Amino acid sequence: MPQLASKDVLRADQFSKDEIEVIGNLAHEYEGALADGRTLNVMEGQVLCTLFYEPSTRTRLSFETAMLRLGGKVISVAEAKSSSASKGESLHDTIKTIEGYADVIVLRHPQIGAAQEAAQATDKPVLNAGDGADQHPTQSLLDLYTIQKEKGTVDGLTVVLAGDLKNGRTVHSLAVLLANFDVRFIFVAPPTLRMPQGILDQLRKRGISVQETEDLAVGLQEGDVLYMTRIQRERFENPDEYDRLKDAYVLTRAQIDGAKDGIVIMHPLPRVNEIAEDVDSYPGAAYFRQVANGVPVRMALLALVTGRA
Ligand code: NCD
Repeated sequence: MPQLASKDVLRADQFSKDEIEVIGNLAHEYEGALADGRTLNVMEGQVLCTLFYEPSTRTRLSFETAMLRLGGKVISVAEAKSSSASKGESLHDTIKTIEGYADVIVLRHPQIGAAQEAAQATDKPVLNAGDGADQHPTQSLLDLYTIQKEKGTVDGLTVVLAGDLKNGRTVHSLAVLLANFDVRFIFVAPPTLRMPQGILDQLRKRGISVQETEDLAVGLQEGDVLYMTRIQRERFENPDEYDRLKDAYVLTRAQIDGAKDGIVIMHPLPRVNEIAEDVDSYPGAAYFRQVANGVPVRMALLALVTGRA
């Protein structure tokens, strides 16, 4: 039995395949309980603190919903930049303060490695809700859960990751998480926004086949799952470069009509311009179902790391 109790969730490559399965099974159970309207009190008496130094809608609200649905309570700093950080308090000291209030901490921060730094400051479990352009492991667990639900399995699939593969933390985490399965990747990106070499090396070492292209049409013809991402404006030093690349890929319904049968379209959201609204009515457009899957998956994570499940 994998031991997730008291563990931090910092990177997607920390999970064994057994742990991924335990999280998925528990999420499935909670999803059923939510659908039946059953009240859960798994997290009764526990407090979650969400501490966000970068904007968020889905990640913060779904963690908070997850905690409330499990009977726990939530305290939240939605705009941590306006907290004592603006007076110069270090992340270490902020975390030492919060550990006196909460049993589990969810952190989003613009700096790579911030979640690791926070985890070192406290014995309470820390969950990384995005550290700069590096990792977003809880998003990847819900992405994987979504693929399993939409396709019935992950093994044997060709997964296309498209957009800003250099700066997108969701695709960094998702690629390494999916490497636990028998997948083939097609990475679609402009030359300056390719998947980092370190991740390509990690995938090749695990025997995963990766094809890189600039051409979204290749992904559409061969992909079972197409995971679109936003060009990450906040990571660009040069605004002109962002303007040049921001509309690199715009997926339309007409393009899907010529794509591989049954292709599932995903996106971590927010979308800016990457998926035209006429795609929303396509039955395989899974991005809003993907959002909803965030709640049971984050319920499972909270219950497991606090030792309540
Ligand atoms: C993503 C993020 O914050 O990295 N959003 C999310 O958590 N669903 C994707 C993005 O901002 O592009």
